[in-house]
Amino acid sequence: MKIVTIVGARPQFIKAAAVSRVLRARHQEVLIHTGQHYDYEMSGIFFDGLDLPRPDANLAVGSGPHGAQTGAALKRIEEALLAERPDYVVVYGDTNSTLAGALAASKLSIPVAHVEAGLRSFNRRMPEEINRSVVDHLSALLLCPSETAVRNLAAEGIARNVHLVGDVMLDVLQWAKQRLAAKAPKILEQLGLARQSYLLATVHRSENTDDLSRVSQILNALNSLDEPVVLPIHPRARKAINDAHCRTEHHVRLIDPVGYLEMIALADAARLILTDSGGLQKEAYWLGVPCLTMRNETEWVETVGAGWNMLVGSDSEKIIAAAHSFAPSGSRLPLYGDGCAAAKCVDLLG
Ligand code: UD1
Ligand code: UDP
Repeated sequence: MKIVTIVGARPQFIKAAAVSRVLRARHQEVLIHTGQHYDYEMSGIFFDGLDLPRPDANLAVGSGPHGAQTGAALKRIEEALLAERPDYVVVYGDTNSTLAGALAASKLSIPVAHVEAGLRSFNRRMPEEINRSVVDHLSALLLCPSETAVRNLAAEGIARNVHLVGDVMLDVLQWAKQRLAAKAPKILEQLGLARQSYLLATVHRSENTDDLSRVSQILNALNSLDEPVVLPIHPRARKAINDAHCRTEHHVRLIDPVGYLEMIALADAARLILTDSGGLQKEAYWLGVPCLTMRNETEWVETVGAGWNMLVGSDSEKIIAAAHSFAPSGSRLPLYGDGCAAAKCVDLLG
């Protein structure tokens, strides 16, 4: 089969790295990058670091308001699909690129496979919630990472062609752990950090970055902690921090976004992770690092249920208290599959 894969944002490059490898052994893949993310640290670094094939096309959509960005991607993806005429389109997750890909393909009657189907935060103020809901309703093949996701779809009347495959991000993490065991990156050394002696933080969700009082609350919390905090900063958060005129204390190390292997090395050695990222919540769990999620809800409810992830919102006092006291107890049962999700996805594509 000829399969067009649509990617555009950081977590999609990581997910595609797992699937592309398996897909290309059996099918012809055309990899289309919408250009939603474009800085080297947000895009190129993943193609270099994950052995991901170069995109066959970059649609250079860039940044903009939701309508403009999604609309530009829709138009350009449609043109690409008309030229390629694939048998299937594969989309990942819940970004504007995912929505544009699913919409363009379904209007051309090309079946869509949605990897990471069925996730719900039940918060319609999140742009991602709108994207994922629409994409699920347009998809011909729904590839779910968890039983919760399968149930969420059933509750919306979607039961056909729904499959529990596990999370392709676990496939990539297992690959990364092998790489790191063979040759660890020098990032800890470069930052002068010892294992378990620092916290790792990320922030980029629109709910935290568009509201300057929330950005300030989060920064205040990090500033008040008494351990080093490494903060690889998403460009959206950098802008918000500047706009809010937040200063950072000496122990808060703002660094450029890092490549995937560096990030996993940083996550693995951290004492605690503070984040609003979807991907990092799961990586924290799989690596056995306690996680505080700076949101009011999560799609990855199993990590909270297991006691290794705690929702702390953006309130300074709550974040500080939890950073001092949160100590998961209990073993970590396997969550989100066995690290072979990509092969299951490709099997189901047929
Ligand atoms: C997007 C996704 C989000 C995902 C995240 C992963 C949507 C609606 N959101 O959010 O679900 O979790 O990617 O990181 O699709 N920018 C740069 N350089 C870049 C990319 C972005 O400077 O290479 C800046 C621009 O000012 C841009 C802002 O970041 O306006 C936001 O970028 P955008 O892609 O719209 O959304 P993200 O917040 O990255
Ligand atoms: N990540 C990375 N470098 C960074 C920050 C994050 O490689 O500087 C990885 C992180 O480990 C995870 C993925 O990017 O695998 C998550 O992406 P992001 O938080 O941007 O998006 P989300 O998962 O929230 O959609």
